[in-house]
Amino acid sequence: MIFDTHAHYNDEAFDEDRDELLKSLPENGVELVVNVGANLSSTEESIALAEQYGFIHAAAGVHPSDSGELTEDNFCLLESRTTHKKVVAIGEIGLDYYWDEPDRQIQKEWFARQIQLAKKCGLPIVVHSRDAAKDTLDILKAEKANEAGGIIHCFSYGTEMAREFLNLGFYLGIGGVLTFKNAKKLKEVAAYAPLDRIVLETDCPYMAPVPNRGKRNSSLNLPYVAEELSRIKGVEREEIERITFENGKKLYQIP
Ligand code: NI
Repeated sequence: MIFDTHAHYNDEAFDEDRDELLKSLPENGVELVVNVGANLSSTEESIALAEQYGFIHAAAGVHPSDSGELTEDNFCLLESRTTHKKVVAIGEIGLDYYWDEPDRQIQKEWFARQIQLAKKCGLPIVVHSRDAAKDTLDILKAEKANEAGGIIHCFSYGTEMAREFLNLGFYLGIGGVLTFKNAKKLKEVAAYAPLDRIVLETDCPYMAPVPNRGKRNSSLNLPYVAEELSRIKGVEREEIERITFENGKKLYQIP
């Protein structure tokens, strides 16, 4: 039983074999997937996938790098999609100072607005935060985002920051990077964070774990991540998969 809490199966990398691949997931133990929107069009595509496949749910939201497309008008449109029965979160939202576009002030404003939206509609958030730890934390605190809860996806900071986000009640999303030889910092975080606050994710088509690093990723690779987490935690892989599955169901409020 595997829960991929963050995937992008709408991506064109899956155009050739999307249906075949998605149909093969449940028979390979992947019982739940959340397909995450990164802008208005991929939010629609995520919802369409969730309507087509029972085991897929959707997150609706606009990624910081795409936050320049948001206006009051289309923000209303985004809000109207949050009542769809298969939308389980607002995401991915946040701050990206690595690409650093659009202007940080625009990223911050729409991050805050989408947190407010999540609180209003009672959904958790999926947070994308790259090279922006302090500002992310400050906004989460200022907006009382702990009331929404959610995931710090593709967690990339150290144990000090992990403690801060955990104290706010967030889960840490861990994926393929954990298997990389040079991922010392993330391995430390994985050792530090309690298992009941970790969820597995692919971020596919990106971030494939070793031994498939560099190739197209899919949820079928998550056992490699679970195996590495098993080694770090000293807990059987099946138990890792079961606990992270339950964590994902709990935070996304999936019955
Ligand atoms: Ni993503």
